[in-house]
Amino acid sequence: MAPRSWPGVIEHYKRLLPVGDDTPRITLLEGNTPLIPSEHCHRRLGEGVRLFFKYEGVNPTCSFKDRGMTMAVSKAVEEGAQCTICASTGNTSAAAAAYSARAGIRSVVLIPDGYVALGKLAQALAYGARTIAVDGDFDDCLTLVREISDDYPVALVNSLNPYRIQGQKTAAFEVCDVLGGPPEFHALPVGNAGNITSYWLGYCEYKEQGVTDRLPHMLGFQAAGAAPIVTGERVDKPETIATAIRIGNPARWQEASAALAESDGRIEAVTDDEIVQAYRELSGEEGIFCEPASAASYAGLKKLAAEGFFAGRRCTVVATLTGHGLKDPDRAVATAPEPEKAPNDIDAVVGMLGLG
Ligand code: F0G
Repeated sequence: MAPRSWPGVIEHYKRLLPVGDDTPRITLLEGNTPLIPSEHCHRRLGEGVRLFFKYEGVNPTCSFKDRGMTMAVSKAVEEGAQCTICASTGNTSAAAAAYSARAGIRSVVLIPDGYVALGKLAQALAYGARTIAVDGDFDDCLTLVREISDDYPVALVNSLNPYRIQGQKTAAFEVCDVLGGPPEFHALPVGNAGNITSYWLGYCEYKEQGVTDRLPHMLGFQAAGAAPIVTGERVDKPETIATAIRIGNPARWQEASAALAESDGRIEAVTDDEIVQAYRELSGEEGIFCEPASAASYAGLKKLAAEGFFAGRRCTVVATLTGHGLKDPDRAVATAPEPEKAPNDIDAVVGMLGLG
């Protein structure tokens, strides 16, 4: 009997995706990521809260971007593209580079010089993308690639590309498939706002299809130094240690606003200190190592809880942890105590540990 393993999000959800039998499947078997119940952190949210983490760091390039990229690159290949292009704070470029390599086509990535975490830069280079570090921020890079893809034969694979949204909506399907329905609240970090748009689309489609009978409230969290949707004004010089969401003018701003309004949701800002605290709790208490931007979802939930948001509610909450902690090793080392030094001597080590 042939082994039946997970086939990747396109094949698994093809009935709900704009693909035909002839659409090539450029896949690294992304998706099917774990929905991990919280063992410890949930206590900070309140008695009645059942908290789960949708851990997207275990995708093939270690972030949620793989779901959208398998769709975007498969459709680009179907349409005859020879080269993809994107702007990125690092994760989109890693995924674009990997899936383009897999498809045997070229990729070009534009990244803000000096503001992409080391692991992500390593990925773009390892997968062989033409990697261009631009003297500007993500928003500048996005403007450049939009104009280039308008005028030249390169396929834009940022989340402006509708197939990216289609692929990423599968994460909402997976949550419902595992829980047997949507959670009451779904929390996400928000940068360019593609992912909140995608989850909302996924939840709405499952309801329209009759798979589920209700919708969650969407909770979006931006970094305080890069919170245009919260303030209602674009940010010219976004700043945050969560470089993945260091974005001042999100491409999917309108769609995100619609998702928040339609779901009767909330969008809030969390400070860098709150993000780092949450990031350290997730790794140190739950054993889940995510990147700083990812921790904004749980940081935001803590903030809402402190305002009494969950008081007296019995509810299921899902927080997406968008990328793996190893993406940003510098931040991990900088926010933890230094390793202790010891001589090569058993008594010394036993003594240090207080075991002797
Ligand atoms: N978390 C991580 C780890 C991200 O890389 C991103 C976005 C987000 C959250 C926010 O998602 O943009 O859909 O609202 N990263 C993009 C990139 C911008 O280029 O990798 P969003």
